[in-house]
Amino acid sequence: YCIFICNLFDLLVVHLHILLKDKCMILSSCLSVSCSEVIVDCTERGLKKIPPGIPGETTNLTLTINHIPLLNSSSFQGLENLVEIDMRVKIEEKTFTKLENLQALYLDGNQLESIPKGLPENLILLSLEVNHIFQIFEWSARQAVWLYLKNNKLNSFIWKNLSYLHSLLVLDLSGNSLTTVPPMLSDCTTSLKKLIVHKNQIVKLTSDFLKNAFNLKYLDLSYNHIQNVEESSFPDDVVKQMDMLLLHNNRFHCSCNATWFVKWLNKTTVTIPKLGTEVTCASPGAQRFHLVISVDLLACQHNGLSIILYILLTSLILSFLTMSILSWQILYSSSYPQMYVHVYNLSYWSTNHRLNLKHQFGLR
Ligand SMILES: *[C@@H]1O[C@H](CO)[C@@H](O)[C@H](O)[C@H]1NC(C)=O
Ligand SMILES: *[C@@H]1O[C@H](CO)[C@@H](O)[C@H](O)[C@H]1NC(C)=O
Ligand SMILES: *[C@@H]1O[C@H](CO)[C@@H](O)[C@H](O)[C@H]1NC(C)=O
Ligand SMILES: *[C@@H]1O[C@H](CO)[C@@H](O)[C@H](O)[C@H]1NC(C)=O
Ligand SMILES: *[C@@H]1O[C@H](CO)[C@@H](O)[C@H](O)[C@H]1NC(C)=O
Repeated sequence: YCIFICNLFDLLVVHLHILLKDKCMILSSCLSVSCSEVIVDCTERGLKKIPPGIPGETTNLTLTINHIPLLNSSSFQGLENLVEIDMRVKIEEKTFTKLENLQALYLDGNQLESIPKGLPENLILLSLEVNHIFQIFEWSARQAVWLYLKNNKLNSFIWKNLSYLHSLLVLDLSGNSLTTVPPMLSDCTTSLKKLIVHKNQIVKLTSDFLKNAFNLKYLDLSYNHIQNVEESSFPDDVVKQMDMLLLHNNRFHCSCNATWFVKWLNKTTVTIPKLGTEVTCASPGAQRFHLVISVDLLACQHNGLSIILYILLTSLILSFLTMSILSWQILYSSSYPQMYVHVYNLSYWSTNHRLNLKHQFGLR
């Protein structure tokens, strides 16, 4: 069986050479055959797509270092025998260091685990989306203005280190596993205008999160796990000069605790997209899926009111009692015989009581 495939394959190579000379030069020169595997190595062929004519028997296909910008379900049609596809790019240290004019570097979708070291000084755009970056050990692109780290594996982020990036305007950290926001953003960066932390696992905002963050214009907190928002997290003087604040698809807890938040959402001037459709409550059960802005706060006001009523009523009753006791005493003191009975009873009680005491303490 194996020999048959190999022979057939040799034949194919020859045929490809002859028949597809113009169309498929690349292909013919990147074919090589080993016995139980059919290996097609197309490393560095300047390919713009998967070349037609790759034999259906191919098991291992290497396509590293080409110019293939798009792959879809048609790309590997007829290659159902593939067991391995290799499109890796290996980026060694200092690869880009000498490129002093380099301003933009897109290394998206490359399985990088960290930001490449020794990036050129002048780089102003760095895009490392869809990689496997799980931690940032060193900021190399210190002049970066645009930094895209979407869809990586970051679960921690030393926000304080943003201070190394003096010119940073846009930071996209969507699709990571971050659980925190900085204690105070303005402590970490003063240049940042746009912060995107869409689709992370942020549970709460810090009290001073946006304090003095006057340059921030755009903040995307959508698709996180935020439950409560404190008044101090969204200071009016900062939020009022923002253009957009995205809050939809969080897990807001709509108890009476959320009263401030509900009222604030209703009156704030900052644009909050999907406020009327996807800024919803996740708990308590009765409020689940309800819009935060339409939470009925009447029940909460009711609570406050009933406390006030309770206090009022209690003090009213107390003063009524005091009054009645007072008037009762006045009434008593005006009727002599009753007063006498009262005094008598009292002396009777005290005599008895004294006797009891004596008895208890063994006195005679
Ligand atoms: C895949 O991409 C190619 C080239 O852009 C296009 O011609 C083809 O229709 C696409 N196929 C599918 C299934 O999207
Ligand atoms: C072909 O792919 C298989 C599966 O990954 C692998 O075990 C094998 O070593 C590859 N062959 C070569 C020559 O790389
Ligand atoms: C980030 O901060 C830590 C300490 O907080 C420091 O050790 C590290 O060097 C910083 N990383 C840089 C410079 O990117
Ligand atoms: C309400 O807020 C207080 C303090 O802000 C907090 O301790 C408490 O857990 C909150 N309750 C709920 C149900 O969120
Ligand atoms: C929201 O604002 C509207 C008008 O500005 C007002 O009628 C409504 O009662 C407010 N709702 C809440 C929950 O504050």
